[in-house]
Amino acid sequence: MAFPITRMRRLRSSETIRRMVRETTLAPDDFIYPLFVTHGRGVRKEIGSMPGVFNLSIDEMVKELGEVHSLGIPGIILFGLPETKDAIGSEAYDDEGVVQQAIRAAKDRYPDLVVVTDVCLCEYTDHGHCGIVQGSRVLNDPTLELLAKTALSHAVAGADIVAPSDMMDGRVGAIRKVLDEEGYENTVIMAYSAKYASGFYGPFREAADSTPKFGDRRAYQMDPPNAREALREVALDIEEGADIVMVKPALAYLDIIHAVRDRFDLPLAAYNVSGEYAMIKAAVDRGWLDERRVVTESLTAIRRAGADLILTYFAKDMARWLAE
Ligand code: PBG
Repeated sequence: MAFPITRMRRLRSSETIRRMVRETTLAPDDFIYPLFVTHGRGVRKEIGSMPGVFNLSIDEMVKELGEVHSLGIPGIILFGLPETKDAIGSEAYDDEGVVQQAIRAAKDRYPDLVVVTDVCLCEYTDHGHCGIVQGSRVLNDPTLELLAKTALSHAVAGADIVAPSDMMDGRVGAIRKVLDEEGYENTVIMAYSAKYASGFYGPFREAADSTPKFGDRRAYQMDPPNAREALREVALDIEEGADIVMVKPALAYLDIIHAVRDRFDLPLAAYNVSGEYAMIKAAVDRGWLDERRVVTESLTAIRRAGADLILTYFAKDMARWLAE
């Protein structure tokens, strides 16, 4: 039955009706808020390309957690800036590393806040790559042991979820095995399964000081034109023991989010990355976009595509807007 019997505008006629038929909603429960922790005290250094996002010392991080918690955001993901970097990323798996200390401080103050940790070496290596380097190559298998050690040290410190973001083959299995052997069979693995070699990570690399000193990450992160390959990556991570899978970045990869949602039944996360944040912030700063509208629209799109969870630097702002 077509026009004039059917009038699509009927269900758009008031905000209340629109609310009733809305297919996709956002809630603070959907968000994971990323934090960059650094050594020292009283440090709160804004990241140039990410206004409103800071490198925080642990005391400052704890203040931030109070806000996150009171906004009803259930989880955070931690990234660390080490004291020193070396070829094998030693601080990544040091029990006194900045992330390990931050996990303990967070669990001590806010035990019910879910602490996710990014498991990768790139912030901790002097060459800036996500694994052990030989010549110009990033070695896969020798890196697995260090990633597993890193994940274990996070679990020991109290992390609820470890999230490997390195894209080495076999890392989920290697991490699951070590966690289980050491009695951390309940630690969740959220795998960055379909992580693309993306230009949208630029601002993050400023925040985490993790730009590779030579070459790029294309020999381990996925090639942006590939979609079917993402499904293989996800299937393998599930087979190796992932509890939650992730697509990253989010907005340029909504088709991938949708395809993964269609094919698999695990909880699905999407990372609304630093470049996606920076673009909106820059346009808003120039008065070219309405921040609240475009952030709401973008995060809704990620949910509509099929993501259950969104890692986003907008988590606090969005939670605040949702509470209004
Ligand atoms: C570490 C890692 C990166 C991001 C999350 N974990 C950077 C990269 O792979 O270069 C990007 C997050 C963002 O851009 O917000 N491997």
